[in-house]
Amino acid sequence: MAMVCLSDFEAYAKKYLPKIAWDFFAAGADDCSTRDENILAYKRIRFRPRMLRDVSVMDIRTKLLGTEISFPVGIAPTGFHQLAWPDGEKSTARAAKAMNTCYIASTYSTCTLEEISAAAPGSLQWFQLYIHRNRAVSQQLVQRAEALGFQGLVLTADLPYTGKRRDDVRNGFRLPPHMKLKNLEGAFEVCKMSPLDPSVTWNDIYWLRSLTHLPIIIKGILTKEDAELAVRHGVQGIIVSNHGGRQLDGGPATIDALVEVVEAVQGRVEVYLDGGIRKGSDILKALALGAKCVFIGRPALWGLAYKGEEGLQEVLRILQDEFRLSMALAG
Ligand code: FNR
Repeated sequence: MAMVCLSDFEAYAKKYLPKIAWDFFAAGADDCSTRDENILAYKRIRFRPRMLRDVSVMDIRTKLLGTEISFPVGIAPTGFHQLAWPDGEKSTARAAKAMNTCYIASTYSTCTLEEISAAAPGSLQWFQLYIHRNRAVSQQLVQRAEALGFQGLVLTADLPYTGKRRDDVRNGFRLPPHMKLKNLEGAFEVCKMSPLDPSVTWNDIYWLRSLTHLPIIIKGILTKEDAELAVRHGVQGIIVSNHGGRQLDGGPATIDALVEVVEAVQGRVEVYLDGGIRKGSDILKALALGAKCVFIGRPALWGLAYKGEEGLQEVLRILQDEFRLSMALAG
């Protein structure tokens, strides 16, 4: 099967992954209207292309908080990579390093932070945090990540509770017994309710700031009000995100929310976006509307499901080629 575009990887993953894993990756909340809107919204945005502008040489590199990456696409944090490929997050880390881009490792990884870091030494890795009721667990994770050389702390703000994903409920989704949330071993046994703390507020940014020197990037912002609060609380970056439509169903597509966030921020911090990026022209639209970089969630999992590290590299390479072509054709 020739892999020409990201939909080919999606079709492969759907065909070959166990149904329960496919359903977990694909899930959106409720009737998935926000998940689907993330993709539909790009189709409504049109370019005003310019001609005869000498596009023989193009530079698609960018910088994330000062660190150069080869093109403006990173890997969004997603959990449970061993459901897609036996080596799990280690393969993801290697692929991101090979393509010289940023990998945001999830709290819910099936490899330890140590394994992820050792798999791709010297590469740009950020750590994504969910704040736990047991704050000592979160504190220890943040400090471990910093000591290992992770270069950014991504606080996910949109998951006080897990959204209702119908297929996961129907399937009784849980990790197979041989896979573990390796960064949290021990932390769950003591906790009968959801271990995530739903009482988190903006003040907890100050708490995080007291734990670490790492830049803090907040993920899950969709409004100008929250963008302003994020800047005022001293974060260094904002990821406009609706968690791939897996949390509140009925919220905006991220590409539609991006504009008001960029306007509110006025260049004071970097603004990134994830959700619905499936081709090079989507990346160009997000950059044209003010994002510094975008991140991919599900497409990275499809790449892993196809061929591990190599498959994810192929996904990134296709996006890179398509992005370069879109830039050229748009002048
Ligand atoms: C996610 N996402 C996510 N976000 C996060 O902050 N921590 C996490 O552990 C996870 N886990 C996760 C698992 C799966 C299977 C998916 C699909 C998503 C959300 C993710 O970071 C990102 O916001 C979306 O995936 C972006 O949308 P696309 O690229 O999947 O359309």
